[in-house]
Amino acid sequence: MGRENRPRNAHKLRSHRWFGGDSMRGFSHRQRLQQTGYRREDFLGRPVIAIVNTWSDISTCHVHLRDRARSVREAVLRAGGYPIELPAMSLGEVMVKPTTMYYRNLLAMECEELLRSHPVDGAVLLGGCDKTTPGLLMGAISVDMPVIFVPAGATLSGYFKGEKIGTGTHTRKYWDALQVGGISRKDWIELEASMTRSFGTCNTMGTASTMAFIAETLGFTLPGAATIPAVDSAHPRMAASAGERIVAMVSSNVTPRSFLTEKSFENAIMVDMALGGSTNAVIHTIAIAGRAGVAVTLDRFDFWSEKIPPIANLMPSGKYLMEDFYHAGGSLALFSRLQEHLYLDQKGISGKTLGELIAAAEIYDDDVIRALDNPVSDRQTLAVVVGNIAPDGAVIKPSAASAHLMRHRGPALVFENHAEMSAKIDDPELDVDENTVLVLKNSGPIGGPGMPEWGGLPIPRKLLQKGIRDMVRISDARMSGTHFGTCVLHVAPESAIGGPFALIETGDEITLDVTARKLHLHVSNSELEKRRGKRKVEIKKPPRGYGVLFSEHVTQANAGCDFDFLMGEDVLPEPEIF
Ligand code: FES
Repeated sequence: MGRENRPRNAHKLRSHRWFGGDSMRGFSHRQRLQQTGYRREDFLGRPVIAIVNTWSDISTCHVHLRDRARSVREAVLRAGGYPIELPAMSLGEVMVKPTTMYYRNLLAMECEELLRSHPVDGAVLLGGCDKTTPGLLMGAISVDMPVIFVPAGATLSGYFKGEKIGTGTHTRKYWDALQVGGISRKDWIELEASMTRSFGTCNTMGTASTMAFIAETLGFTLPGAATIPAVDSAHPRMAASAGERIVAMVSSNVTPRSFLTEKSFENAIMVDMALGGSTNAVIHTIAIAGRAGVAVTLDRFDFWSEKIPPIANLMPSGKYLMEDFYHAGGSLALFSRLQEHLYLDQKGISGKTLGELIAAAEIYDDDVIRALDNPVSDRQTLAVVVGNIAPDGAVIKPSAASAHLMRHRGPALVFENHAEMSAKIDDPELDVDENTVLVLKNSGPIGGPGMPEWGGLPIPRKLLQKGIRDMVRISDARMSGTHFGTCVLHVAPESAIGGPFALIETGDEITLDVTARKLHLHVSNSELEKRRGKRKVEIKKPPRGYGVLFSEHVTQANAGCDFDFLMGEDVLPEPEIF
């Protein structure tokens, strides 16, 4: 590497505070780095680029991120920077209990502190499985240094007996079929081996895909990155381009807060609606915006869902998978469909406006990326319902729910917690029919804890046997973005902190009216007050550890579930170097 590749203002680099000083401490930093085999001229005066990697053996969506880190590393060196890989908490969605959401804020804190405490000038963030994307972005915004996000990319399309199957979406479908003899146990075991064909994130429009699109819309990725399949050779090329670009970004000091605006979050919400995106994205978008000092509220999702229908024909709302979407034109093609709505003057890490980026976008398959006047569903991506049991709101995804249940009144069947629900749901004596409204309490941020994805309550086996495949379910939990069902989620405030949702009793009548945006419990105020007086609210708190921090500081779903002390625009001062 020649001297000509070095930034002219090397002394202005943040890392120069560690490496540049003619002091004993500067000596220590330089000699320790040479312990790795690199020479002082390999790093001194060059932008130091962190590769924050959420790879782990058990984070199966991220298996390839070790290789991608290598692509980034080589590109950073070629561009005249000096790469250092910093491992970060790996939140494999399926494996981590009680739920990855419990740890999203911990990853955000880790990312922020990793970047703040090390001698780095910029970072490439490698993630993609559900909570890793918001966790990394939240941390990066709070430290506000140049970063690029490299999404892990989706796994290949799944196939089973000639049918295209999606991760998550078909798990529940085939499980229900197994319960009533619709498939054999042999089929079920075969399915286990054929559903997920490669590394990469869920191939449906679940939370991972939705958040990759949102990251790209906000400007955190290279153009088109959100839809590149994990196994495609374009993926390591994209990672390499990110490595080159971040070195240039350090010189021009392109930080998240230099491009995140109210309009870029409005764009993200519009794209989410067009995608038929995961309900989880509502919570994450609010939390990410909060780190940038932008106040995003639930009503903005409702506002845009009325205007922008789901046009991405992807499971669970539609029929295709992410690989199809990539070949149909990918993320830029979707943005081009929305150009009459999007704020095209917004910029991101590429330095180009959204309008410039989509100028040459083409759509190769009109059935996969539909036109706005030919949506995938006449039902919206998201509706925010409010009522006497959800005064701060709850959400439902009508496009992945049943049309005949959009207006429904029925008697509640209440489960006080997940354990009770699991123990009773398949009891042949359960007093339930297709009109019943299943209610699950104590599954919110505090109650879960961590707001697990329990909101897609299973259909009781006795109803499955009658052919029932959907019914109204209400909870303060979340639901996997890959799932289908008439499920009202994220009820706020949650039952565990004394929200009125806690006051529902079995037999009470509940009305869900999605068109009117209402969720109403038909019980008088005086009766509710009486019930409230009898209940004692005790905030669930573990005896030690991270859970104490979590229970004391997590906010409710409508506020993004961030920790109260992490929200806002403050950037901490640089650490003292001594
Ligand atoms: Fe990792 Fe779905 S399990 S993205």
